[in-house]
Amino acid sequence: MGLHSIRGQWCFLSGAADGLGNAIARELAAQGMNLVLFDVQEGKVAALAGELQTLGVQALPVAVDLADASSAAGAVAGAVRQVGAPRALIHDAAVLTPRPFRAWTFDGWRRELDIILQGAFVLAKGVWEPMFAQGHGSIVFISSGSALRGFSLEAAYTPAKHGQEGLMKVLSIEGAEFNIAVNTATTGAPLDTPMSWGHYTPDMQQRMIPPSRLAPAFAYFAALDAGHATGLRFDAFQVSEAIMLPRHGAPL
Ligand SMILES: NC(=O)c1ccc[n+]([C@@H]2O[C@H](COP(=O)([O-])OP(=O)(O)OC[C@H]3O[C@@H](n4cnc5c(N)ncnc54)[C@H](O)[C@@H]3O)[C@@H](O)[C@H]2O)c1
Repeated sequence: MGLHSIRGQWCFLSGAADGLGNAIARELAAQGMNLVLFDVQEGKVAALAGELQTLGVQALPVAVDLADASSAAGAVAGAVRQVGAPRALIHDAAVLTPRPFRAWTFDGWRRELDIILQGAFVLAKGVWEPMFAQGHGSIVFISSGSALRGFSLEAAYTPAKHGQEGLMKVLSIEGAEFNIAVNTATTGAPLDTPMSWGHYTPDMQQRMIPPSRLAPAFAYFAALDAGHATGLRFDAFQVSEAIMLPRHGAPL
C-alpha cells in the first residue's frame, strides 16, 4: 500500500512563522502541498505565505494566538470552511520558558500548556470530523526529549509535551478505524531556532543543526495513512536522514 499523495493536498501547520515550522512549510510547498499557516506572528506568517505562493502552491496565513481556545477553534473551523478537510495537520507551535518552579505563576504556566497541549486538542478536534468524512488524514504533534524525561526549569513545557504524547496515543487508537494516522515526531537533535537560542547550553549550541535538515521527514509524515503507521513516536532527524540517503549517497 503506497503512501498517500500530498501534491495538491492541504496541510494545516501551526508555528509556521519561525524555526522548524517555517522549514516544514518550505519543504511541503516545494513538494506541491498547499498550506494553511497558523501563527501568532502575523507579519512573518503573511510574508511566508507570499513566498510560498511564488512556488505555485496555495498558502493561507492565519494569525492566531493558539493559547486562546476559542480563537484557535475559530481559526481551524474557518480554514476547513475555506479549503475543506486537510490531508495533514502538523502542530509545531510551542514556547519554552525556562524558569524555576518557585517563579512560575499559575497564569504563566497555564499559557504555556494552552499553546502546546490545549493547542493540540483544539487543532485535532477541528480537523477530526472533516478527516473522518474524507476517509483519511495524518496528524502529527511535534514532540521533544521533554516528552519522556524531566528537565530542570521546565515545569510547564515538560508536562505539556508529556500530555501531547498521551493525547496522540488515545487519538491513534480511536482514529485507526477511520484511517486517521496520529503520531508524534521528536526532533532527534537540538535545532538552530529562536527557541533554542534562549536556553541551550554552549555545548548544545555546538550541536545544533538547521531545522531544514528535519523537514523532509514531515513530507513523509503528511503522507501517512493509519495502515502505514499510527501511535508512533518518530525521530524526525533519523527519518530525514533515511529519506535523504538515496539522494546524497551513504556517508563514507
Ligand atoms: N528547538 C529545538 O531544539 C527543539 C527540540 C525539541 C523539540 N522542539 C519542538 O519543535 C517545535 C518547533 O520549535 P522551534 O525550535 O522551531 O521553536 P521556535 O520558537 O523557533 O518557533 C515556534 C513557533 O511557534 C509560534 N508560536 C509560539 N506561540 C504561539 C501562539 N501562542 N500561537 C501561535 N503560534 C505560536 C512562534 O511564533 C513560532 O513561529 C516545537 O514544538 C518545539 O517544542 C524544538
